[in-house]
Amino acid sequence: MASSATPPSLVGQAASFLQLMEHVSRAAPLNRPTLVIGERGTGKELVAARLHYLSSRWDKPFIKLNCAALSETLLETELFGHEQGAFTGAAKRHVGRFELADGGTLFLDEIATSSASVQEKILRVVEYGEFERVGGTQTVSVDVRVVGATNADLPKMASAGKFRADLLDRLSFDVVTIPPLRARADDIPMLVDHFGIAMARELGRPFFPGFAPKAMSQLLAYPWPGNIRELKNVVERAVYRAQGAERPIDEVVFDPFDSPFRPVAMPGDRRAGPAPAEEAEAEATPATPTAPGPATAAPSGPCNFLEQVADFEKALLRAALERNQFHQKRAAADLGLNYHQFRGYLRKYELLDRRSAAE
Ligand SMILES: Nc1ncnc2c1ncn2[C@@H]1O[C@H](COP(=O)(O)OP(=O)(O)OP(=O)(O)O)[C@@H](O)[C@H]1O
Ligand SMILES: [Mg+2]
Repeated sequence: MASSATPPSLVGQAASFLQLMEHVSRAAPLNRPTLVIGERGTGKELVAARLHYLSSRWDKPFIKLNCAALSETLLETELFGHEQGAFTGAAKRHVGRFELADGGTLFLDEIATSSASVQEKILRVVEYGEFERVGGTQTVSVDVRVVGATNADLPKMASAGKFRADLLDRLSFDVVTIPPLRARADDIPMLVDHFGIAMARELGRPFFPGFAPKAMSQLLAYPWPGNIRELKNVVERAVYRAQGAERPIDEVVFDPFDSPFRPVAMPGDRRAGPAPAEEAEAEATPATPTAPGPATAAPSGPCNFLEQVADFEKALLRAALERNQFHQKRAAADLGLNYHQFRGYLRKYELLDRRSAAE
């Protein structure tokens, strides 16, 4: 597997981001396992690659495996390989990721999802550099640095018996935690330019005109639950949808599913899990008087369609506000709405009360 000498470039200038970069540079040369923790889309894979390319292993393989993508048995054979005839269909010996990564780094993404028996085998490789291929008796020795990533709370999982505490002890020699984008909003303008310029270039546009002030303030105010991946998508979408290539972009679409024709999961729709109305009722507190609860199943007799829909929407809005301690931006994100859409609904239903805060 060919490796390039260049560590992947990460864009950012916020104090917490610079501290993170400093931490990564210090941890990289150490020949020890490392954990990378962060919400979805924060750049865990980029950080893991940087740990590899800034280490003395940079010219050896950097191998990745997403533990969540495979069943327990497949994960085991992918990690450790199998011998010929190990099971029906194992026509040839299969070399696993630990062997492929020999001398280099193995990045185990979503490591929290691996089973206890796989965790036990990983522990042995981390500790002694040894394992047996599935169906084999010969011990294979490798020199691999393991970098694990997750957005789960591993210490909590370990105390609940859902992750092996002894593996956590070994892997957590050092833990690099990536701050979510909302905790480093100073980075937003720089990232917007970075992704905007790249997109304009990809589209063959002469330059990236930037965002108009109102659009920029929307980008700055949004809580970015999907972090940098979401910001990249929002910026790229805005650039490609922009009509006049020279004028600053004034339209930002946070939710590409947003449409007046979007199919609505009806109360009682089993695909949608628990009926949102039930959830809303369960969340409501006596402090927030609620309108008569919306029906939890499609009414069997005649009913007022518009009233039912309005009641349902109000219950969703109230429950989201309750869940987020009346923080409107978070409640909006919870519902997959942008802040302006959410405020529009509050206004429509006269729910703009004094307890709701934007910040
Ligand atoms: N600081 C950064 N500068 C530039 N691009 C970044 C930065 N951080 C992340 N990205 C980009 O954001 C996207 C998501 O990054 P990455 O896949 O590393 O996140 P992740 O934390 O592994 O996400 P997930 O939890 O969903 O697996 C990628 O396109 C990556 O290139
Ligand atoms: Mg990832």
